[in-house]
Amino acid sequence: MSAYIQIQDVRKSFEGTARQIEALRDVNLEVQAGEFMCLVGPSGCGKSTLVFIVAGLVSPSGGAVQVGGAPVHEPDPDRTVVFQGDAVFPWMTVAQNIGYGLQQTKTPKKEQDEIVNHLIDLVGLSGFRDAYPKELSGGMKKRVDLARAYATNPTVLLMDEPFGALDAITKEKMQEDLMRLSVAEADRQRTVLFVTHDLEEAIFLADRVAVMTARPGTIQVVLDIPFSRPREASIKLSNEFQALRGHIRELLVEEEAS
Ligand SMILES: Nc1ncnc2c1ncn2[C@@H]1O[C@H](COP(=O)(O)OP(=O)(O)OP(=O)(O)O)[C@@H](O)[C@H]1O
Ligand SMILES: [Mg+2]
Repeated sequence: MSAYIQIQDVRKSFEGTARQIEALRDVNLEVQAGEFMCLVGPSGCGKSTLVFIVAGLVSPSGGAVQVGGAPVHEPDPDRTVVFQGDAVFPWMTVAQNIGYGLQQTKTPKKEQDEIVNHLIDLVGLSGFRDAYPKELSGGMKKRVDLARAYATNPTVLLMDEPFGALDAITKEKMQEDLMRLSVAEADRQRTVLFVTHDLEEAIFLADRVAVMTARPGTIQVVLDIPFSRPREASIKLSNEFQALRGHIRELLVEEEAS
């Protein structure tokens, strides 16, 4: 079986003002259909750049990316990105932001309303349906952004530190929701590429964790996470979980030091 996301020999250099920056070097990674892959690595190693390349927002300097067997050249509504910052439209209400993609795909109005209302409840924003982003806190805006990404039920979710700005309790709730949302539905599989600095988050969510080297970023190792899914938050306390966390942490400390 071939992988759903195939990243082959991807390189990326940026022309800086004074010098060229080599962000990614020979990145090879395969994500299977329905798989949840987390990507961790030192700050500045090219994680966001790699996500943008898979999204079709940035073109690689070399190598190729295929999603679902087709080469990636541009963004696609079936490949939704959640950015490291929040990406809400300030001139739209919470409901309009969440429903934006559904409007683009011409989903019937009644269905749009049902999906939007369900997601507003899911992300805990009942009562803020008609509020504008300027009336919301940073964490609330992030939750609007997540609901926006889930709304169109995309086959591929590309998430760049989506929960980084959330408080611990909201973050746990969002992790559990994502776990539920990412489990394959009867008729389709959802493939997720998820960047995080939080190793507990990576091990809790992922089927596999790809560890990157320092810049120029490449894949150092891909580790299997041996827990069955869906998972309960209590597994974070198990010895096996903590041992994995220690192992990945050591790999990253070595990279930072090199
Ligand atoms: N548009 C750009 N122009 C020039 N350099 C860039 C651009 N985007 C990224 N870079 C450089 O590429 C490297 C990788 O950046 P990237 O944002 O992908 O890292 P990251 O792993 O996501 O970091 P972080 O963990 O801090 O979010 C950095 O050295 C950055 O300065
Ligand atoms: Mg980044």
